[in-house]
Amino acid sequence: LAHFEPVNLYEFEALAKLKLPKMVYDYYSSGADDQYTLADNIEAFKRLRLVPRVLVDISAQDISTTILGVPSSFPLVIAPTAMQRMAHPDGECATARAAAKNGVIMTLSSWSTTSIEQVAKAAPGAPRWFQLYVYKDRDVTAKLVRRAEKAGYLAIALTVDTPRLGRREADIHNKFSLPSHLTMANFVEEGDAEKSHMEQGAGSGLAAYVASLIDRSLSWKDIAWLKSITRLPILVKGVVTRADAEIAVRNGVAGIIVSNHGARQLDTSLATIDCLEEVVAGAQGKVPVFVDSGVRRGTDIVKSLALGAQAVQIGRGVLWGLAVGGEEGVDRVLKLLRDEFELALGLCGCRSVKDIRREMVVRTTSEGK
Ligand code: FNR
Repeated sequence: LAHFEPVNLYEFEALAKLKLPKMVYDYYSSGADDQYTLADNIEAFKRLRLVPRVLVDISAQDISTTILGVPSSFPLVIAPTAMQRMAHPDGECATARAAAKNGVIMTLSSWSTTSIEQVAKAAPGAPRWFQLYVYKDRDVTAKLVRRAEKAGYLAIALTVDTPRLGRREADIHNKFSLPSHLTMANFVEEGDAEKSHMEQGAGSGLAAYVASLIDRSLSWKDIAWLKSITRLPILVKGVVTRADAEIAVRNGVAGIIVSNHGARQLDTSLATIDCLEEVVAGAQGKVPVFVDSGVRRGTDIVKSLALGAQAVQIGRGVLWGLAVGGEEGVDRVLKLLRDEFELALGLCGCRSVKDIRREMVVRTTSEGK
């Protein structure tokens, strides 16, 4: 097994499952309730079929793109996922280094097990976004935003699908808790981590406490508040309708991330790839649209771009890479997706992302006809 080389994200997941404690694997892999949306996020991509053009000279392919003015080696952003040090001791720092090495943007979760500043130091100068939950205590929220700004993060991804946490049944069975040697690092005063681990509420206590602080009253008017406290562009993560996309644009967001949180929030909600075109229509070309939840293959990236996304995000894939091999594991996952995307794009008859056309994707019925 030590020499088994995973050749796709599903194999990375299978290896990660062997390596991780059950509680951790279940936390990472689970969706909400019956996990219908978890399965549909994958199935929906399969219902879409690609229609290639032929006899196009693809001897010189360029798969790079630009995301909010920043060059990206291919159209992929690392989605924020909480508590990465449960996957590997190097956690978020390993992800940051692999992202920098591969020329892709990393989004840091506000529920990271490494602080905003430490992650910035792990890969200085690399482009990063910071994911934000809004807390009842707006001073706590504003402080996080200021720290991200100061540490050089380039944008705030405001998660809007989580006024309450979804119910993940495996976590309830497992009595999920953050292992006691880890902390929700952004909520522990700098320098105090070692000193007052207990008082700071290390491990599960702190994780549950931080989750309970989320402000359920969050609404569109808070975008204006957020804009008043930061110069950073604000992306809303979790919009899935045309109507909300239109409101988001009116409220001056810099981008929209179509997401159902990897199916961890509202079960039986639509697969994101089935919402994408509507959201793109709502954005009216005024702001870029991104999509995540269920991206596992290079062909998924091609389909997402054909339906109007600027780039995709991946969540679990990075966690599986981390679990399998830390920084090197994430590096392999990113290279794998990059190679799959380049191959799929070329076989579609595209030299670059600019050549991708809507007609390259057709929707089949659930039977695949
Ligand atoms: C997430 N996601 C997430 N999103 C967010 O805004 N803040 C967070 O802290 C987390 N944490 C988190 C933990 C784990 C274990 C998972 C699987 C997901 C959602 C994440 O950003 C993204 O939307 C999904 O992971 C995308 O779906 P895939 O790629 O996992 O299918």
